[in-house]
Amino acid sequence: MPSTVKGVIARAKDAPVELVDVVVPDPGPFEAVVDVQACGVCHTDVHYRDGGITDDFPFLLGHEAAGTVSAVGEGVTDVAVGDFVVLNWRAVCGHCRACRRGRPWYCFDTHNASQPMTLVDGTPLTPALGIGAFAEKTLVHAGQCTKVDPALPATAAGLLGCGIMAGFGAAVNTGGVTRGDSVAVIGCGGVGDAAIAGAALAGATTIIAVDLDDRKLELARSFGATHTVNSRSADPVEAVRALTGGHGADVVIDAVGRPQTYEQAFNARDLAGTVVLVGVPTPDMQITLPLLDVFGRGGALRSSWYGDCLPSRDFPMLAALSLQGRFPLEDFVTETTGLDGVEDAFAKMARGEVLRSVVVL
Ligand SMILES: NC(=O)c1ccc[n+]([C@@H]2O[C@H](COP(=O)([O-])OP(=O)(O)OC[C@H]3O[C@@H](n4cnc5c(N)ncnc54)[C@H](O)[C@@H]3O)[C@@H](O)[C@H]2O)c1
Ligand SMILES: [Zn+2]
Ligand SMILES: [Zn+2]
Repeated sequence: MPSTVKGVIARAKDAPVELVDVVVPDPGPFEAVVDVQACGVCHTDVHYRDGGITDDFPFLLGHEAAGTVSAVGEGVTDVAVGDFVVLNWRAVCGHCRACRRGRPWYCFDTHNASQPMTLVDGTPLTPALGIGAFAEKTLVHAGQCTKVDPALPATAAGLLGCGIMAGFGAAVNTGGVTRGDSVAVIGCGGVGDAAIAGAALAGATTIIAVDLDDRKLELARSFGATHTVNSRSADPVEAVRALTGGHGADVVIDAVGRPQTYEQAFNARDLAGTVVLVGVPTPDMQITLPLLDVFGRGGALRSSWYGDCLPSRDFPMLAALSLQGRFPLEDFVTETTGLDGVEDAFAKMARGEVLRSVVVL
């Protein structure tokens, strides 16, 4: 029997989200139904609501989730009913050109559930990042369920499913931050602070946090920033250079994703340094860069999709580091709320009052 549960949808561009009844089908082959315990509020959910990702409204929002598998379809062998899982949006296929070349973190054909979740009138919903977890239950491909140590609180575990993994991976996987590096992170929300914590864990010795908000900069220090720059009052490019012997940082991470912050990142890195774009731009955004500088400054301009992570490798690793007290996963949870608190959580995010609001079910 399909279940009817409460879920948070974005019905139309820029309209406030709504809490409605959502029909979740029984799992078909290779699918699983997960009883969601907690789901973090990520800036990407706001991008969906604002029509900045696609026009496939209505969206079932929420994608940073942990929960318990409550039903599995035919052919599911890797997870079973009762397993505590973090949902991922990279269930690798194993067969595409990236997977076949041994680079599954670029998988170009990731799996999602085949059946749609719907409104009660049958309208199909587009689940955010193929997950849709601001809901009591969600239907996913079984490969989207990654088992982690159930000792981890669900509120923190869910964050591994998107923003924290993306930020950590932007520094450690995409940026290749290592011992002795200087790193600058522009934008210190959940994603940027995870990049800071990742850079600290990897051994970076200078970690410069850049934001427009002093409260965010103070928090960034608690995650490992050694210096902070408020780019409302100081030119971040000059400030980063001044803090790195006049050279610029080895790795600069743009965790905002706007033309202005990308140009700052481009200019704030050392010769042969790396720029990592992990913030998500919107379709209208353009940049112009002097091609001579693109050549002359050398190094690498890289984009980080989901922190170039492999969920099966990286979620259990971050869960273990968190349980050992070596990665401050639980500190990203600023507040918990209910399914009816999502729009309010978006507003708090916009006002800079939270790192992560987590919806608890
Ligand atoms: N690449 C990925 O796989 C991936 C995954 C998750 C999130 N994201 C993206 O990462 C970005 C950050 O997400 P978040 O959840 O941390 O958002 P957030 O809103 O919590 O944080 C953004 C931070 O950037 C700061 N900021 C805004 N404009 C700035 C500017 N011009 N200069 C300096 N700081 C500025 C804000 O004050 C805030 O602290 C979003 O674009 C989100 O969509 C990407
Ligand atoms: Zn693949
Ligand atoms: Zn996200």
